[in-house]
Amino acid sequence: MLSVLSFAALSFLATSGFAKTVVYNWDITWVNASPDGFSRPVIGINGQWPCPTIEGNIGDRVTIHTRNMLGNETTSLHFHGLFQSGSNSMDGPAGVTQCPIPPGAKFTYDYTLDQPGTYWYHSHNKGQYIDGLRGPLIVHDKDAPYAEQVDEEVTLTLSDWYHDEAPGLIHYFQSVDNENNHNGAEPIPKGALMQDTQNPKISVKPNKKYLIRIINMSAFAGQFISIDGHQMTIVEVDGVYTVPQKTDQIYITAAQRYSVLISTKSDASQNFAIRAAMDEEMFDTIPADLNLNVYGFLVYDSKKPLPTPTPLTTFAAFDDFALVPQDRQRLLSKVDHQILMDFDFINDNGINRARINGVSYIPQKVPALYTALTTGSDATNPKVYGTNGNAFVVKPGEVVEIVLNNHDGGGHPWHLHGHNFQVIARSGENAGTYPGNAAAPAIPMRRDVVMVRKGGYVVIRYRADNPGVWLFHCHIEWHVEAGLSATIVESPMELQKSLRIPSDHMKICKDQGIPTAGNAVGNTANHLDLTGELTTPEVPYGALINPPKKPRSNRVARNFVA
Ligand code: C2O
Repeated sequence: MLSVLSFAALSFLATSGFAKTVVYNWDITWVNASPDGFSRPVIGINGQWPCPTIEGNIGDRVTIHTRNMLGNETTSLHFHGLFQSGSNSMDGPAGVTQCPIPPGAKFTYDYTLDQPGTYWYHSHNKGQYIDGLRGPLIVHDKDAPYAEQVDEEVTLTLSDWYHDEAPGLIHYFQSVDNENNHNGAEPIPKGALMQDTQNPKISVKPNKKYLIRIINMSAFAGQFISIDGHQMTIVEVDGVYTVPQKTDQIYITAAQRYSVLISTKSDASQNFAIRAAMDEEMFDTIPADLNLNVYGFLVYDSKKPLPTPTPLTTFAAFDDFALVPQDRQRLLSKVDHQILMDFDFINDNGINRARINGVSYIPQKVPALYTALTTGSDATNPKVYGTNGNAFVVKPGEVVEIVLNNHDGGGHPWHLHGHNFQVIARSGENAGTYPGNAAAPAIPMRRDVVMVRKGGYVVIRYRADNPGVWLFHCHIEWHVEAGLSATIVESPMELQKSLRIPSDHMKICKDQGIPTAGNAVGNTANHLDLTGELTTPEVPYGALINPPKKPRSNRVARNFVA
């Protein structure tokens, strides 16, 4: 079926005259890099780091032939924000829509670019993108509402950066020592990057309009960003065109994207700083040697001096809740299926674990997509995905409302695969749980990552129009590892009719002895017998000690202005 789909897509594109297939041959490799002056092994592509940009026009087909040349780690690639309609098996999260790609193996991703805008790709396996396997994914659209005005465009990436490799950091994060002696604190980055370096120079010409596509590829930190002397006009968030909105500062959580227009000055007499600052409120401690700030420069004239930037001190970012999508899609007013998610962190036998409704996510033996495809009508029963698979099943065409109540003392950027969503309610900090009576905006903003503030709530809605198994999780990689994920199984019966898994996907499972049929434990005879399901995290449990959890530091409140 996949090849039929691809053929249909190709012939449609052929008639449009412009569509092409963009082919990448990617060896995923270790390489040394020192983006902040400290040299360390990072995961790159074809011996290069930063990783290349995936780029195409709307309607293009993308084929990425990967080979895992890491030697010591499994991998996978996710294309963040792409709906993958009809191509759920190309979505990328290991243990959900595919098996992890073992060292030495080949694996092909193949899909069409159906949505315009700014996306990114990243490893979706064991917190691996922290080690550098991530890059921009740009889908050009000559009919974009701002297209006529733009002279040039620039992609501007932000990220936090660590000096230690992710597997060790994760192991320590999930250790008894960390939970008991450091309140389960997330590892604090060593600094921040812009364009995968520091102090990048971006040459600009006077009297032009630039489209700047800002992507936060952080593992953890949200960032504030502003461009000295240049007001920004937001025209896109997470692939959704917005009614233009002027602002001097943006707050961008891990995995969010903003495209902004700027008009350059009428002369080249001066260069300007781009200033970004990591949101220190997210860190349990601020090490004395941590520079929260990272800078870049708009260079009008390379012979003129660069300004000496000073740290951002005013934090008053635009409130994205006030954005209006350009297509003016109205509020999905009739909810068919409400899913309540209360999430928190606990000391679980000495390990810091995150839970949704009391359940901490643990990947199961059989990737959830394969369970959905092979359990017949039992695929609509959430039990077959395993207790810790944390599955919620939704039906075709339903308007789904998810209520996220944050019982933690930190903010969490939540991301849904396979869709974007209307954000119909978002509270301030410490507002408690959703009272259930929000006056939703008539035309709500839409995006694919939304920040749920500490002690507060967010309510989102979307229509279940994309059969597939879609992960829904906090995009802080540490929290993914702590279990802050759910599996939304959307229209499994429709999926069974339409989706076939390519043989290279099956092969890597077989080679690793991972079952590809049956319930979460691979039982094909009795789907409700889950004997042997995985219920504990990979990191071994320590001794049972339950010291009282210290309250997290009371951090400063930020102002958000509309
Ligand atoms: Cu950026 Cu699960 O995704």
